[in-house]
Amino acid sequence: MCGIFGFIGNRAAAPLLVEGLRRLEYRGYDSSGIVVRNGDLQVYKKVGKVSELSKILPNHIEGNSGIAHTRWATHGGVTDSNAHPHLSENGDVAVVHNGIIDNARGIRKRLEDRGFELKSETDSEALVHMITIGLDSGQEPLEAVRQTLNRLSGTWGLCVLFKEHDMIICARNGSPLILGQGDGESFISSDPHALSRHTQNIFFLEDGDMAVINKDGIDISRLEGGSSSTSMTVIEDDWGEADMAGYPHFMLKEIHEQPEALRRCISGRLDRANGSAKLGGLKLEPVRLRSAPHVRLIGCGTALNACKIGQLAIESLARIPAVAHVASEFRYNDPVINPNAIHFAVSQSGETADTLSAVKEIQLKGGDVHGIVNVVGSTIARLCGQGVYIHSGPEQAVASTKAFTNMVASLLLFALRIGRTRSFSRERGRSIIDDFQKIPDLMENYLSNPGPIDEAVELLKEAKSVLFLGRGLSAPVASEGALKLMEIAYIPCLAYPAGEMKHGPIALLEEGSPVVVIAPNDRHREKTISSMHECKARGAKIILIHEEGDSISEEADVSIAIPKCDSILTPLLSVVPTQLIAYKVALALGCDVDRPRNLAKSVTVE
Ligand code: AGP
Repeated sequence: MCGIFGFIGNRAAAPLLVEGLRRLEYRGYDSSGIVVRNGDLQVYKKVGKVSELSKILPNHIEGNSGIAHTRWATHGGVTDSNAHPHLSENGDVAVVHNGIIDNARGIRKRLEDRGFELKSETDSEALVHMITIGLDSGQEPLEAVRQTLNRLSGTWGLCVLFKEHDMIICARNGSPLILGQGDGESFISSDPHALSRHTQNIFFLEDGDMAVINKDGIDISRLEGGSSSTSMTVIEDDWGEADMAGYPHFMLKEIHEQPEALRRCISGRLDRANGSAKLGGLKLEPVRLRSAPHVRLIGCGTALNACKIGQLAIESLARIPAVAHVASEFRYNDPVINPNAIHFAVSQSGETADTLSAVKEIQLKGGDVHGIVNVVGSTIARLCGQGVYIHSGPEQAVASTKAFTNMVASLLLFALRIGRTRSFSRERGRSIIDDFQKIPDLMENYLSNPGPIDEAVELLKEAKSVLFLGRGLSAPVASEGALKLMEIAYIPCLAYPAGEMKHGPIALLEEGSPVVVIAPNDRHREKTISSMHECKARGAKIILIHEEGDSISEEADVSIAIPKCDSILTPLLSVVPTQLIAYKVALALGCDVDRPRNLAKSVTVE
């Protein structure tokens, strides 16, 4: 989604801004732009990739401060004029803005009535004119920005650059903004990935914070006046360099990183002696685990699919009711919150607005929430203040892969932990742990010989639609496989619990329709075979993901074998072929695998 980068210091700003934008590219965007302060405010902006912007930049741009933006269209189409930065009519003020201004229509109308000629269709452009009105009436820059923000409703991560003042002013309300303090230089970003190579000294702005940024310092205050309690954090987590390491795409790299990422996630957390798991970030004493009435898991997209697996694993191992919730629905359904219940917010980015608002809803109603999050220091992680980091490392492809497997692994660890306090024996716990420890190696083995993925691609690449089926823990895996293929290959995909297929989606099947079935050798196997027969009787072609050595493979048109493991762990392995299938179908169709159209990596609007 939209990204912001800013710099003020003694170095040339333009190359740093462009490099910052490149680091934000993975979030998804449709245009980009920079403004550099060099006597005047020089704006360059362009529809398309940052590489398109680079083509219109002069070879050398003087100037030691500037702000930059990648835009993911919300108000107004994808055009050069709608791209940020927006410049005031007198050329004195430039803004970049993430978020949505809800009362922009009225403000734009009032500005037009005052004689302003708005050059874009965006909500963001209104801000630059409002700030200019404040400056023209004699306000200092901070006051002009403050007065402007006080007239807005909506969300913002905002940066303002001034022709006449050697500073950048930033503000946050509902859209992340992170400031970095270097040696004689300061940085701004909407995303910690873009800052970590410049400095470890970070300020995570809170909602309602404003900041004046100079090369020598950062002064943070509150929108309502007074100073802010936001303080500097030294980021110690080694986020690592997010390059492609010789792979043609981030997605393929991240699929192959899963064994190592999973090792990181479970390392030191499997407690074989007790047949349990240690999750230091969870502030849940055994008495709370034993007495909790239920568990709720909340997420979006891939995280939601991980929640659904968590729900089944927690119920199965701990015999406690568990429910997965669609985050975007949660708050608006006015949920009843039991303060004794256990709540999890699951998110790779830790910035997803829908998930964030669900966290706030639970907290408002007296519940506490644990984060299951990848990005260290992200808004959800900080708001929850407790939880589990999944340690996937940077995930750059829009299609989530290694975060999914580590979310599932983290929820399985929790299922072990709560299960041991409530229901199952140490021996059962040890047996799961013994298999859990083997999963990274089994994944590696599978990835070194993934089976006939290309045959599956041949069946799928020209399909009008694809049906994904699974039962039990494999039903959410089917959903995840369908989501992956749909989002990067643009093929309409339906995922159904296999038994539900005959109640509707079977109508779609005709001669040659591809159906992807996930059928590990668990207690659902026989029933899944019946569903497959129903598909085959209608001429469907079956791409079957099954355990190696299982005679179920005879049912398949394309049989993809995964290693055997304890049935509670199968999603960690059975999802991997679905990721490879999506990747290779998208490639075969010439799609932009890492940056699929319309999608954003981090969805920071509701
Ligand atoms: C995954 O492939 C998707 N791009 C998307 O569904 C994603 O999982 C969802 O937007 C949630 O993101 P989060 O994990 O960062 O909260």
